[in-house]
Amino acid sequence: MDLIDAAYARAEANGFGMSCEPPVGRLLATLAAALPPGGRVLELGTGVGVGTAWLVSGLLPRADATLVSVELDPATSALAAGAGWPDFVELRVGDALEFLTAASPGTDDGGYDLIFADCVGGKIEGLEHTLARLNPRGAIVVDDMRTVDGWPDDFKVRQQGVRRTLLDHPDLVSVELDHGSGVIISVRRPPAG
Ligand SMILES: C[S@@+](CC[C@H](N)C(=O)[O-])C[C@H]1O[C@@H](n2cnc3c(N)ncnc32)[C@H](O)[C@@H]1O
Repeated sequence: MDLIDAAYARAEANGFGMSCEPPVGRLLATLAAALPPGGRVLELGTGVGVGTAWLVSGLLPRADATLVSVELDPATSALAAGAGWPDFVELRVGDALEFLTAASPGTDDGGYDLIFADCVGGKIEGLEHTLARLNPRGAIVVDDMRTVDGWPDDFKVRQQGVRRTLLDHPDLVSVELDHGSGVIISVRRPPAG
């Protein structure tokens, strides 16, 4: 069984229902495949590793990339950790916002070329800290951007906040796609010159 099938099986076996759906996963894999040499990937919210598996599938067989994925819940992270990842994958247990604000861009733990912001911390709350880690020409992906009937009003407001922050940001070129659960992809403009 490949990493992706194994990850979906792991999610099902453990009753984890928040994994990204295949259309979003395939998008992540496609963007990962386009990363420059030494490309750095960050996933906020590992879950049981479905998104991680899609990202890895786009990176393989190269070994020069880095993929850091942060998960708050130790038990969930432990499930993901059992997957047998390539050496360039680093799973961290902790709060995404603390991770984002722990080091400054420009240090070894600095910027990223592809970010999948997939948990409240760093997406719904503190999105500016995630954007601060996005390299020039780097892309950030958020999903679950289609409004679902029955969602609480405050959740819809928060979702709209994410949408406006990304689509209206002067340093980002963004597109909202009716793809999977609803996706926004934003790329940081390189400096002029
Ligand atoms: C939508 S799921 C992630 C799914 C995963 N990215 C995938 O595509 O398979 C969100 C995950 O984020 C975790 N989480 C929630 N708050 C977090 C935080 N502040 N920092 C890190 N992880 C968090 C949850 O425990 C949950 O596993």
